Amino acid sequence: MRILLAPMEGLLDHSLRDVITRVGGVDLCVSEFIRITDQLLPERVFTRLVPELLNGGRTDAGTPVRAQLLGSDPACLADNAALLASLGPHGIDLNFGCPAPTVNRHRGGAVLLDEPELVHAIVAAVRRAVPAAMPVSAKMRLGHRDEARMLDCALAIEAAGASELTVHARTKLHGYRPPAYWDRIATIRGAVRLPLVANGEVWTVDDARRCLAESGCEALMLGRGIVADPGLALAVRGAAAPERPDWAALRPLVRHYWRRIAGHVSPRHRAGRLKQWLNLLRRRFPEAQSAFDTVRTFNDPLVVEGLLFGEAVALHGADAAVDAADAADAADAADAADTADGLEAGRAAAAQAATGSAATMATANA
Ligand SMILES: Cc1cc2nc3c(=O)[nH]c(=O)nc-3n(C[C@H](O)[C@H](O)[C@H](O)COP(=O)(O)O)c2cc1C
Repeated sequence: MRILLAPMEGLLDHSLRDVITRVGGVDLCVSEFIRITDQLLPERVFTRLVPELLNGGRTDAGTPVRAQLLGSDPACLADNAALLASLGPHGIDLNFGCPAPTVNRHRGGAVLLDEPELVHAIVAAVRRAVPAAMPVSAKMRLGHRDEARMLDCALAIEAAGASELTVHARTKLHGYRPPAYWDRIATIRGAVRLPLVANGEVWTVDDARRCLAESGCEALMLGRGIVADPGLALAVRGAAAPERPDWAALRPLVRHYWRRIAGHVSPRHRAGRLKQWLNLLRRRFPEAQSAFDTVRTFNDPLVVEGLLFGEAVALHGADAAVDAADAADAADAADAADTADGLEAGRAAAAQAATGSAATMATANA
């Protein structure tokens, strides 16, 4: 069985990839999406979002990382994919599932599932632009509003030369509301020979077993479930895997994450990032609930540091560096617009993930 770590813009960044792959059990990470509009992005955008590219395309724990692109212009995606490929990711993944209104308005993500011909053109153009030995994969939902074109899209992705397809077993309209329709992945399996990866709503070992059985897949992609329980991949692997970590083992990793995000998340967003993770961790660990309650109303990183880790370490030097990097980025208008859009998409999705409430999901997907 293969286990992939899901791309999650605004939540599962390179710092959390680092932590989760340290715990173990993950075969391959897919990065959060890099949005391509109408220009060739500078190399530094790719290496900022996927710094693993500077480390042989791997996390510090050695897990390979595939970089994900999102866009609707085949030629521009192909140009960017060629540049990205030269930086050495472990493959390039194409996003046909993002439900964010900003992205969909610009004809990106899940709305493309209404246009299988364009999906085909995108995958084919990127496949041609990337060295033959580098995998080009895709990730799709079951459809935009319904499943009417689900098989057309999967067949288009296969015919265009993709090496693998992850299916998040919901339509865009379903948003992130349970359930995920794993049996629909089996329907796709009946129509294509392409290896499929099943994704959606796997929170426990039992969910994983049912998802594999209903979809007929041998590969799973874990998203919110492994963020809530970083030992989930090990647990799914069962007896052959080392013991999954308890809170005592995870706590130093939470601290490691906090230190790491000081290097790339601005001070005013840092506490929010940590709270997002604690918010999911508290589903499984009562200690994470206490930590979340302790810092819930605080946003000052020094206060949060003191409350959670018992010391207020001077982070001013790191803060100045992150602020300076923010200012440099703001100078690049295209880049800045990209980031803002990405953050909007991430915030909407993260709000859904965080609350798990149908009302929030409906608002975020309106
Ligand atoms: C906060 C958040 C951000 C996401 N960002 C991306 C993304 O950048 N690219 C992508 O293909 N899917 C993205 N997704 C979808 C996930 O990869 C995954 O398909 C979805 O969460 C269902 O899996 P899960 O139930 O295991 O979380 C995102 C989901 C969430 C909750």
